[in-house]
Amino acid sequence: MEKRAISFAKDIRPLFRQIDLEHMSRMNVLLDDYTFMSDPGHARAVYEYLDGTRQPQMPPGGPYWSEEQLNVYSEWIAGGRKP
Ligand code: HEM
Repeated sequence: MEKRAISFAKDIRPLFRQIDLEHMSRMNVLLDDYTFMSDPGHARAVYEYLDGTRQPQMPPGGPYWSEEQLNVYSEWIAGGRKP
């Protein structure tokens, strides 16, 4: 059976903590908003802050996302950023 596509609501949104949502919405980075997050540039920028390609790595001071979490996120992008 084929693996179901990674979903923003089911797989990605739950990876963010309340504190992530609160701090970043103040900076107009809407981590729980599908319309914001599904923009290709936003989706990519968020990934690069999570893996430290862009600094400061998010969330500041950690705990940083595990490789498994980062993989789910990149599969979400590769799968076409499904809702
Ligand atoms: C486009 C993506 C993002 C940008 C441009 C961004 C940028 C920033 C900046 C400039 C700060 C202030 C840093 C500081 O005061 O040292 C910050 C704080 C923070 N960010 Fe992000 N961030 C992004 C994504 C994220 C993500 C994906 C997470 C969580 C998974 C996150 C979690 C946080 C938290 C929790 C804080 C507050 C830290 C504190 O005050 O202790 N951010 N972000």
